[in-house]
Amino acid sequence: MRTQVCIIGGGPSGLLLGQLLHNKGIDTVVLERKTRDYVLSRIRAGVLEKGMVDLMHEAGLGARMDAEGYIHDGTVLSYDDRQIRIDFKELTGTSVVVYGQTELTRDLYNGREKVGAKTEFEAEDVQIHDADTDHPYVTFTQHGAQKRIDCDYIAGCDGFHGVSRQTIPTSVRRDFEKVYPFGWLGILSETPPVHHELIYANSSRGFALCSMRNENLSRYYIQCPLTDKPENWSDDAFWAELKRRIPQEYAETLVTGPSIEKSIAPLRSFVSEPMRWGRLFLCGDAAHIVPPTGAKGLNTAASDVQYLYTALVQVYEEKDSEGIDRYSEKALSRIWKAERFSWWMTNLLHRFPDQSDFDIRMQITDFEFLASNRNAQAVLAENYIGLPY
Ligand code: APR
Ligand code: PHB
Repeated sequence: MRTQVCIIGGGPSGLLLGQLLHNKGIDTVVLERKTRDYVLSRIRAGVLEKGMVDLMHEAGLGARMDAEGYIHDGTVLSYDDRQIRIDFKELTGTSVVVYGQTELTRDLYNGREKVGAKTEFEAEDVQIHDADTDHPYVTFTQHGAQKRIDCDYIAGCDGFHGVSRQTIPTSVRRDFEKVYPFGWLGILSETPPVHHELIYANSSRGFALCSMRNENLSRYYIQCPLTDKPENWSDDAFWAELKRRIPQEYAETLVTGPSIEKSIAPLRSFVSEPMRWGRLFLCGDAAHIVPPTGAKGLNTAASDVQYLYTALVQVYEEKDSEGIDRYSEKALSRIWKAERFSWWMTNLLHRFPDQSDFDIRMQITDFEFLASNRNAQAVLAENYIGLPY
């Protein structure tokens, strides 16, 4: 097989990049380790910055997002019973869209199938060869058959546990990591959201988040120890703990119900530099991870995709390598700002095992400064709705 751009990974990064390149007449093949159904079974955050919304429109796949997504003009931060509403619209003139990543990925798969672009599912043992030459190629096994794809470029969109980042020699690569001493226990329930906007809550018992997917599908999280397990938590125990962590007015109106999904996710900050090695370009979770507190995971993947897509079009249409030569530097500049914001939100809103009384006073003071200072709220809002590409 031969293609112009071989995309490893059929998650949001790989699919969005593939659709944008296809629309410019650039041939791609997506290699996905799992099946489509498996990929679509993953429960992921769904807060879209304007940049991501614009890219879905540019890809021609924004219709369902426009019809079913929810425009959010702000969010609530609470500290025990104190609340601050951050008014994105008033402070920045911009909103965010809440639309589940699962549905966005479904739209991307449907779009790829509609244009007849090739996706190889159950592509196992993907290996990248000669990425640092002008003739890279990728091998993989599919249903027992050995396969090879020769290509011009390789996009490593295979997430944190993928093969792409590992292909870059450790002598070239530099990884930065911070692992947080807690996780998020999340549940999905077919219940109406407790509030029409998200609630990020810090309490003496730890962090909680009230989110949603639609008017009858809610997503809730509580901070938990890394040693915790979903099976340790009955639904009743989860609801009771959530009510202890969110402001009383919401605890009283919270509609509870059976969980249809319950899982624990660890929190980490991670960046791998550089995001290019020869003709291999890393995109999305393959290169960086953020704690979900700032809702930046999908949105940093989006800016990577926009930079790489634009750069590859520049190469093919103008024979100009300026974009690909600057890709890593440009992508990392925005990624590090998203890492900082996600790290700051995580420190503002969580209780750390080794926190001193002074540390807690600093958190409270941070919160009170936010509550009293419009400029501080504007800085949070500008980061949350997404810094410029
Ligand atoms: N070969 C082929 N495919 C692979 C391999 C491999 N060796 N390793 C992983 N994959 C696939 C995974 O099965 C997954 O479908 O690559 C895809 C990577 O998708 P994501 O992990 O979702 O990463 P990305 O597309 O960058 O999307 C980032 O996903 O994890 C969330 O918070 C994150 O919202 C952000 C978004
Ligand atoms: C979610 O809806 O899953 C969600 C929303 C916002 C976050 C994290 C997760 O910051």
